[in-house]
Amino acid sequence: MTAKRVLILGAQGQLGIELQKAFDGVGDVVALGRQSCDLANLESILKVMTEVNPAIVLNAAAYTAVDRAESEPELAMRVNGEAPGVLAVEASRIGALLVHYSTDYVFDGSKKAPWVEDDPVNPLNEYGRTKLAGEQKIAEAGGRYLIFRTSWVYSPHGNNFLRTMLRLGREREQLRVVNNQIGAPTTASALARATRSIVDAGVQSVDSGIYHMTCSGQTSWCGFAQEIFRRARAPHNKSWPTVTGIPDAEYPTLAKRPKNSVLSNAKLKGRFGVSLPRWEDALDETLEAMAAD
Ligand SMILES: NC(=O)c1ccc[n+]([C@@H]2O[C@H](COP(=O)([O-])OP(=O)(O)OC[C@H]3O[C@@H](n4cnc5c(N)ncnc54)[C@H](OP(=O)(O)O)[C@@H]3O)[C@@H](O)[C@H]2O)c1
Repeated sequence: MTAKRVLILGAQGQLGIELQKAFDGVGDVVALGRQSCDLANLESILKVMTEVNPAIVLNAAAYTAVDRAESEPELAMRVNGEAPGVLAVEASRIGALLVHYSTDYVFDGSKKAPWVEDDPVNPLNEYGRTKLAGEQKIAEAGGRYLIFRTSWVYSPHGNNFLRTMLRLGREREQLRVVNNQIGAPTTASALARATRSIVDAGVQSVDSGIYHMTCSGQTSWCGFAQEIFRRARAPHNKSWPTVTGIPDAEYPTLAKRPKNSVLSNAKLKGRFGVSLPRWEDALDETLEAMAAD
């Protein structure tokens, strides 16, 4: 990639951290967290876009507290629904490419096969509704954009299922984990590397649109937990807990979640020749990175 200014938003989030690593060496990367660019403050977006004047915007910032969004739908909508639209209008004005991330939660989970990009959307919760609004606002802005819908994101940092399981695994002898919701656990690092290779291939010629981007394979939350404890090094003083599968009806959450979150990555592979690793391999890589820390 020739040196172009790259603006990364959400710099302190799971994906934002990995995007900074993946785009290291590009030349001119400006990575901003919430304190420098607050997506809830639309003026802040206009100011940053004018001052930074990027060629590429990687928007990893989002309101991601899925359950809390049920009681804060306005704030979630401002950050996930309206702000991406403002970013897209600004990107279009200055001729920048906007890369944005969305979610499996735009779907209702009712399909029996992996979801493709133009399957009907029907979010079950406020977070999904706000992310869907963001997708629509970006498309309406009329500029160049890539929206990567992903799922079950985790990394060595932040709040995520892997870190929760490792913590609970040290404290408990038994865990009960939902086994009737399926998806593809996806590492922030795999997303960031795939984003870099797509952007490297040519920013001017991208086909704007929505692409699914997850690690390959699928499992349930219970299967993910079992694999974590099979692969992670056990603590010195105890063995990992046994994991028992339970239906989601026995683990009620404020926000309803889809049963089938598996996304087909065929469009991404067909258009860009890019595919992400199998989720088990990506898990190994993350555990190794955590052990080396
Ligand atoms: N995590 C998942 O399982 C998952 C699944 C599907 C799709 N996605 C999508 O993937 C993308 C990256 O998610 P992630 O997992 O990296 O999330 P994350 O770790 O929660 O990071 C999100 C970042 O956005 C920041 N943020 C929140 N509100 C903001 C605001 N008003 N202005 C500016 N920044 C704000 C957060 O800052 P603070 O730390 O200050 O709150 C945080 O650093 C998001 O678009 C998300 O919707 C995530």
